[in-house]
Amino acid sequence: MTYSARAPGARSCGVWSLEGEGPRRYPASMIEMTERQRKARPYIRAWLWFAAFLVFIMVIVGGATRLTDSGLSITEWQPLLGAIPPLTEADWLAAFEKYKLIPEYSLVNQGMSLEEFKFIYWWEWAHRFLGRFIGLVMIVPFLFFWATHRIEPRLTPRLVTLILLGGLQGALGWYMVKSGLVERVDVSQYRLAAHLTLATVILGAIVWTALGVGGAPRHPPQDRRGWAAFGLAALILLQVAAGGFVAGLDAGMGYNTWPLMDGQWMPKGLLIMQPVWRNFFENAMTVQFDHRLIAYIVALCAALYVWRVQSRAAYAVFIAVLLQVGLGIWTLLAQVPLHLGLSHQGGAMVVFASAIWVMHEALSRQAAVRLQPVTI
Ligand code: HEM
Repeated sequence: MTYSARAPGARSCGVWSLEGEGPRRYPASMIEMTERQRKARPYIRAWLWFAAFLVFIMVIVGGATRLTDSGLSITEWQPLLGAIPPLTEADWLAAFEKYKLIPEYSLVNQGMSLEEFKFIYWWEWAHRFLGRFIGLVMIVPFLFFWATHRIEPRLTPRLVTLILLGGLQGALGWYMVKSGLVERVDVSQYRLAAHLTLATVILGAIVWTALGVGGAPRHPPQDRRGWAAFGLAALILLQVAAGGFVAGLDAGMGYNTWPLMDGQWMPKGLLIMQPVWRNFFENAMTVQFDHRLIAYIVALCAALYVWRVQSRAAYAVFIAVLLQVGLGIWTLLAQVPLHLGLSHQGGAMVVFASAIWVMHEALSRQAAVRLQPVTI
């Protein structure tokens, strides 16, 4: 089938479309593009890969902010003005005074010097500043491409969604920080896991969109391979969320043995809290146990997938998972030193991005369509 309706703005520069035997019909307005949009594809792709790289760095800086206990140093949220750090000694003292009002200062950092405060402040500031920068990197080129009609129709809603997800992530970040400003000396593990998981989803969505620029439209899984790829990516995302709970509870600071935990395969006390569901989110032992267990299941699934599919993407995810499991064990045995904690966190992003690649590849077989010019 050929879709030949003229796209808005096609004018005399020609219209391109997707043709083929895909199981699903796509409305012509969704898949046609002008010559100008086709030529813009490499730039849009490069822009998205750059954004994905920045999100990856953002996750590492976020991890460093957490592991250096810097996350609560800025006690207010000013989306625009907050980009300017304290500039004078008086500004620094004012920021420090605000920090002294929260429990983390009085219970953990009592007597901290201004220099020590500056160290933790800069980490949190860098994390937020990078977030703002990513916002600009997403919005400014988008507006340019959009205003000059360089974005093909089916891409526009995706890019807008990515930008909205970025905004949501900023708000979620503040919601997380807020949980550590009263009564507690650290942030809620629920909110931390949500913040990390959304960051991972955003990274995956950017990678997915970048891989899709110029390719055939994908649609939900319809065969076994499609479902297997989808299931693997979902399982890895679950493992990332579980890792967020391990991090949020500092659960990597205990049971630092492997393969046994507390001298046993299944340690006693996994379900000690009441009601039982709380153990999965609030009991450091259970949370670490689950993270180990899911890791083994992920490794097994990735091995089965590569055995059946044997594609480059399948090998990539399998190798990434194996390295990540090794790194996780090392991080645990060493009681989470900064460099290993960060490598493990970054490794998780690589694993998930590879799973997105696997999914993109698996779903492409189902939409056997290709790009070709349309005669009008
Ligand atoms: C597919 C495999 C794995 C993935 C995708 C994964 C992912 C993650 C993620 C996303 C975090 C949160 C990082 C943070 O917020 O700082 C985390 C934390 C952690 N993981 Fe894993 N993990 C995997 C396997 C393992 C294994 C096998 C172990 C050990 C047996 C392990 C031990 C840890 C520890 C100790 C932490 C806490 C680190 C910290 O406090 O910063 N992980 N993991």
